[in-house]
Amino acid sequence: MVKWLNLVISLQILLLPSLVVSCNPALAQHQAAKQNNDFIVKPYLQLGLEEKSDASAATVVWFTSNDTHKWSVLVQAAHSNEKAGKAGKAAIDAKDAKDAKATKATKPTLEDERPADSILERLVALPGFSSPIKKYTARLKKLTPGEPFSYKIKRDDALVFSATATARKTAAQPFKVAIFGDCGENSNGQKEIAAEVFKAKPDFVLIPGDIVYRHGLYSQYLTNFFPIYNNDQPVPMMRSIFSVGVLGNHDIALDGNATNFDKHNDAMAYFLFWDQPLNGFGTKYGEKNTPPIAGAENKQILFKKSVGDAYPQMANFAFDYGNAHWTVLDGNYYMDWSDEKTRKWLIEDLKKAQSATWRFVTFHQPAFSIDLPHGNEQRMRMISDILSKYKVDMVFAGHAHCYERSYPLVFSPKAERRFSMAADGTVDGAFTFDRNFDGITKTKPQGIIHIVTGAGGAKLYPQGSPSEYILKYDSSDYSYTSMEVVDKTVSIKQINTKGKVIDQFTVTK
Ligand SMILES: [Fe+2]
Repeated sequence: MVKWLNLVISLQILLLPSLVVSCNPALAQHQAAKQNNDFIVKPYLQLGLEEKSDASAATVVWFTSNDTHKWSVLVQAAHSNEKAGKAGKAAIDAKDAKDAKATKATKPTLEDERPADSILERLVALPGFSSPIKKYTARLKKLTPGEPFSYKIKRDDALVFSATATARKTAAQPFKVAIFGDCGENSNGQKEIAAEVFKAKPDFVLIPGDIVYRHGLYSQYLTNFFPIYNNDQPVPMMRSIFSVGVLGNHDIALDGNATNFDKHNDAMAYFLFWDQPLNGFGTKYGEKNTPPIAGAENKQILFKKSVGDAYPQMANFAFDYGNAHWTVLDGNYYMDWSDEKTRKWLIEDLKKAQSATWRFVTFHQPAFSIDLPHGNEQRMRMISDILSKYKVDMVFAGHAHCYERSYPLVFSPKAERRFSMAADGTVDGAFTFDRNFDGITKTKPQGIIHIVTGAGGAKLYPQGSPSEYILKYDSSDYSYTSMEVVDKTVSIKQINTKGKVIDQFTVTK
């Protein structure tokens, strides 16, 4: 186990002069968890910080008090039964070897339990904390892609947590994704969608921004997020299903021109809780196209030391899952997607992804939306030329608390000029629509389909009507997008809290 002693020492020095006793109920809950030796956040699955996608690896993250316990992780990976019977392998149910032998032909076989490949321990002391807590990050390797695995977490040799999951899929394996944004408001709608998604057993969950209301705070994750998606019952989802988060406007603290730690001292928890590939365009603190922070210098230092390289790197990244390449972008107000550096990175990323069967892009603020509050916020139209040129198939956004599906469309700068954004946020350009695509018999779209799936839990927007570029609009209920990818066929369903399909279509290649 790697101990980050320097970090521990420097954080403790920083904390001494600024002990903060908070009366925030979520932080009180976190204090109680610390005293009771409980998890502050129970284990959950992440892609991990590694730049390169690896279908045989997974990251498990959990949070505890700043204790002195020895934590360990045991992993047991399954493989399909053609490999069964190899020397040194244990049967799936070691307690009943006879039965395991009898069922060997049909059940997957589990390898012997083995320790996680690494466990990192990081001291976390956000500006609002009265004392530090610990973040543990275990990396599990040599899983069999697409096959089940289980992991157990021990504290001083006592088993304190276990879960089962399915390893990531390779390009040869079909997969299913659930997508919903604008969720962490602790509403009944959020809980109903969480239950529907968990029931559907996707391979991973994608949240295109506004993960936690209203300011993306650590304390808000403890009340509005983990208790809904990673509880013991009824939705122990995040411990067994990978999840991917995208930075939305409510995931920064909405303090004006910068997230201000003097106003929100446990802000920007996105960079603490998510462990996602650090393979974006290499931005650094204070640089352009970086989520800006403000407030007392010692608070900024505490935040940066607590989250490490995740800030500001993790705002933009890319990964492969199955036969698809996924590009995750920051669409917030400080981002300039006409900037050469950001565009170059996006172009290079999509160029490298040309061999993938599918290319999907996700960001929070939709490029094409007819919702009233955000219809003029068209910043992300600035990359439309790149998305078209490098054959992106679909874009998933949130921000508008509804469901919207566009016609397949191509959006180009007028008269060959580059896009530019007007003072009111609009981006002018020329549309070409594919109105023949019906997703049933005509399934090869000429253009990109843009989906807004922001009905994940926050208060729904008023019902709108289809427009020139929006084919479907629904905000009559909370909903999520279910996407199944089988080789060259993508089947999309939009499903509401009653499990009812409110829109569906198929795309083929
Ligand atoms: Fe938003």
